Amino acid sequence: MLEVRKAAGEDEEKIFRLIRELAETVGFAEQAPLIDIGIWSRTLKGMLDSPDWIFLLASDDGESLGLVLLYVRPTLTTGMNKAIITEMVVTEKARGKGVGRVLIEEARKQALQSGCSIMAVATDLDNAGATGFYKKMGFTQERTYFEAQL
Ligand SMILES: CC(C)(COP(=O)(O)OP(=O)(O)OC[C@H]1O[C@@H](n2cnc3c(N)ncnc32)[C@H](O)[C@@H]1OP(=O)(O)O)[C@@H](O)C(=O)NCCC(=O)NCCS
Repeated sequence: MLEVRKAAGEDEEKIFRLIRELAETVGFAEQAPLIDIGIWSRTLKGMLDSPDWIFLLASDDGESLGLVLLYVRPTLTTGMNKAIITEMVVTEKARGKGVGRVLIEEARKQALQSGCSIMAVATDLDNAGATGFYKKMGFTQERTYFEAQL
């Protein structure tokens, strides 16, 4: 049965595999050789230990099928919190079967419980799959996003 739960330290390997699949899917795989697993592991631990991060893991019969990461931050414009989806992935063979929808529904609940009034996500302009998915999930395009290499 499909279940969604908060991930913890013992899920490190599952999280690593899902994030690697995300990187391969959205085209960040060329950065993978730069990953120092010790640094990656410490970064993950810091995130899991922080109250600002929520990791939700979907699995079926012990098999990990998807992951969504929420970053919860305060906003001074409203005084409320804002939840930002920083990473989201469903394994290739599990896509199109409702796993993403269940993850987003749980993310919404968790964000509301964390005092958020809004949930946001940035996605690549050419990622038609994610764009279609987020629109289906009720997201609307409100902003243009800029970034600069440092
Ligand atoms: C985007 C992603 C998370 C969606 O997860 P999923 O489990 O396949 O989505 P679901 O099966 O729960 O679909 C939920 C709804 O979104 C729609 N949807 C899913 N993928 C879609 C797509 N590529 N285009 C348009 N609509 C889509 C479904 O039709 C469904 O609507 P319905 O219930 O009315 O039929 C998944 O495809 C994925 O991991 N993609 C690769 C990684 C990625 O791009 N991540 C986002 C980066 S920000």
